[in-house]
Amino acid sequence: MADFILAIDQGTTGSTVALMDSAGKVRASVNNEFPQVYPKPGWVEHRPDEIWGSVLKGIRAVLRKKVCKAADIAAIGITNQRETSLLWDRQSGDPLNNAIVWQCRRTTDFCEKLKSAGHERDVRRRTGLVLDPYFSASKFRWLLNNTSGISRLRRAGRVAAGTVDSYLIWQLSGGKSHVTDVSNASRTSLMNLKTCAWDRKMLDLFEVPVDILPRIAPSSAELGRTQGVPGLPDGIPITGVAGDQQAALFGQACFAPGDAKCTFGTGSFILMNTGSEPLQSDAGLLTTVAWQLGEQGKPVFALEGGAFICGAAVQWLRDGLKIIKNAPAVEALAREVPDHGGVEFVPALTGLGAPHWAPEARGTLTGLTRGTQWGHIARATLDAMALQNADILRAMESDLGKRMKPLRVDGGAAANNLLMQTQADVLGRKLIRPQVIETTVAGACYLAGLGVGMWQSPKDIRDIWQVESEFSVAMSTGARRKRQVSWNKALERTLL
Ligand code: G3P
Repeated sequence: MADFILAIDQGTTGSTVALMDSAGKVRASVNNEFPQVYPKPGWVEHRPDEIWGSVLKGIRAVLRKKVCKAADIAAIGITNQRETSLLWDRQSGDPLNNAIVWQCRRTTDFCEKLKSAGHERDVRRRTGLVLDPYFSASKFRWLLNNTSGISRLRRAGRVAAGTVDSYLIWQLSGGKSHVTDVSNASRTSLMNLKTCAWDRKMLDLFEVPVDILPRIAPSSAELGRTQGVPGLPDGIPITGVAGDQQAALFGQACFAPGDAKCTFGTGSFILMNTGSEPLQSDAGLLTTVAWQLGEQGKPVFALEGGAFICGAAVQWLRDGLKIIKNAPAVEALAREVPDHGGVEFVPALTGLGAPHWAPEARGTLTGLTRGTQWGHIARATLDAMALQNADILRAMESDLGKRMKPLRVDGGAAANNLLMQTQADVLGRKLIRPQVIETTVAGACYLAGLGVGMWQSPKDIRDIWQVESEFSVAMSTGARRKRQVSWNKALERTLL
């Protein structure tokens, strides 16, 4: 019987492919990292064929685990790094350039130009987003202006543009479906939040022709069917698609307005469900679509704040400074010292996101003395991951005008107990960690399962979601204030 969901979580540093059964249990999962391309300081790219290759490799490997046959897959769910943008040829399916990754800062000057010309208010009002190189629109524009042979292909109607979800659906459907879901579309700066359709004024502003863009579809509905994918039968429906942060919100069963989660991934992202009304921020946060269930479903909105570098800072300790062998080793190194010892690491390695929006900022390491050890740097890194989130949470509470509900945590680094305790302490708020911390992949499975009728409503998902542990505040108010003052000083230097 076909009662498994195959989920693809195409993230910034790797692709996870997983199989979930109809009881909501992830029965097999594999992850393949792929190379990052850094052509210039501040630029980040991915090779689209390596993205697709890592997904195909994952599909093969997960099926080799033999928890089910390919014929037992009822539906496919996709979740993905958002904003990352690419162009491909509709005829051959070949990418026309490398994908520009969400972290890439190459379109900073163009965004600054639009800001100086006074467009920011209108962009925010229409799209819920700030004017920043983070989002897809300026990346599409750059690709259209800098890809060789593009004019000839444009004239022949062969250029397709999309975010990673759209590219994967194209590949999985053998070039039949050019479609994106509404949560991913809401990250492009080209979608109007009120109509959930491409916005004519934004298309003109960013010089993106509408005919190269995908159709916008619900997050849980049929978005395509497999065709010609090695190892998979033709005709498996793709019934769940959402940006990774929105999928994590769904996977955390944050279905009621006020429910919020923080995902510790390459970056860290706090999203709070705001229900059927988009809530505009006065504190530097974003308004975004969380999901839409079915063609007739109303979009659900979220307020979002993201720090661009979170787990990526630990990766930098591993690959750049080479002071740890693997990411989990950061906890033991940080525990070698009692605290950060005055060291502050502001990991603005690709600029600063919410609530500062400073694309030109670069990382700083301050407070070094002759007594500084690697342990202090590891500790300062974990502290920074938590302190960035505390800044975002405070901005969210200022928008709301009240305290938020306890934050649900997930993502790989949520397994790090020292980090979670530090997070609860600097927030001054209780945290809830669920049994399944890979909630992004779970969210994609749930959306796909709902789309194919494996589950009937979000209530069925709420019954699957279970708490594993809670982290209560153990830091005094005075100590928290002192820690914050030191962090704020380092932030000020970074923002100079
Ligand atoms: O907006 C960027 C975000 O979607 C990337 O997520 O999981 O790769 O850090 P992640």
